[in-house]
Amino acid sequence: MRVLGIETSCDETGVALYEGGPGGAGLLAHAVYSQIELHAEYGGVVPELASRDHIRKLLPLIEQVLDEAAMTAADVQGIAYTAGPGLVGALLVGAALGRSLAWAWGVPAVAVHHMEGHLLAPLLEDPAPAFPFVALLVSGGHTQLVDVQAIGRYRILGESVDDAAGEAFDKTAKILGLPYPGGPALARLAEQGDPTRYRFPRPMTDRPGLDFSFSGLKTFALNAWQKEQSERDDTEQARADIARAFEEAVVETLLIKCRRAVEAAGAKRLIMSGGVSANRRLRARMDEQMGARGVAVFYPRAALCTDNGAMIAFAGHERLAAGQQEPLAFGARPRWAL
Ligand code: KG4
Ligand code: ZN
Repeated sequence: MRVLGIETSCDETGVALYEGGPGGAGLLAHAVYSQIELHAEYGGVVPELASRDHIRKLLPLIEQVLDEAAMTAADVQGIAYTAGPGLVGALLVGAALGRSLAWAWGVPAVAVHHMEGHLLAPLLEDPAPAFPFVALLVSGGHTQLVDVQAIGRYRILGESVDDAAGEAFDKTAKILGLPYPGGPALARLAEQGDPTRYRFPRPMTDRPGLDFSFSGLKTFALNAWQKEQSERDDTEQARADIARAFEEAVVETLLIKCRRAVEAAGAKRLIMSGGVSANRRLRARMDEQMGARGVAVFYPRAALCTDNGAMIAFAGHERLAAGQQEPLAFGARPRWAL
């Protein structure tokens, strides 16, 4: 079955065509349009602007993906759209268009959970992880550890009680005066930093449990940065040192909790997905630590770690293939538990 996937939950318009089932060719084409420049001057995503831009970009992107796959509407056999969680207006753009096209083309439609998309994204790669596995989902909106037995069989092992890891990256980047979106910029700056200069705490690792708390780290960064600024004229190296200490603290905390989760679940496989899993240091350290424990680590290529239509097309394909589909009514669920 060939499924068109549509992702519009935040500030990326993602579209993809995925062909699954026996003999299926896999990902036929995908495209992402990022609204970064649109929101940069505001230092964060402006929901109304995001919705309007999704309206402008979605249809041209669908045409582009069909062209790239050398296909037409007649070749699409199902449509999957992100129905939540996310920005309600942005979600409604994708849901309305996805549901309408499915009606017009006479094919089934399915509403996909954005985090299930991230969770299944590593299955688009070769080799794909076999079930069961533990998933670390680290994005701008979520930080979760999930015990995954099969598609649809998910148990949350732990999650952030405050900021998501990506959100903490973005807020700390803002404190350090880095341009939006801060996560990747902070990671680049951290590469120049001295890891021994500062040591930030590893929150909630001194007690049992798999929950996270990242909001305190930005306060550490703020205090360190203000002190440096009051004490010296040239703060460039200090800024990189703080970025490095922050990144180390997040990475180390994620590693400690992943180790615990894998042990608790008796898992042999761990997957990472979501924007923060594009972080090079996190990947290298996770490979190293899990490798030493005989646990195989899987993550998608960087373009499929951040928001994209391919993961939605894939998750939708699995749901449609299992017989799920939506009635003609559609909606968005800005808050939606996995
Ligand atoms: O999955 P995603 O694209 O959107 C959400 O569903 O939230 O994740 C975006 C988040 C942002 O917070 C961004 O700063 C962070 O992922 N991010 C990174 C890196 N690349 C993206 N954080 C740290 N290091 C990176 N290389
Ligand atoms: Zn996401």
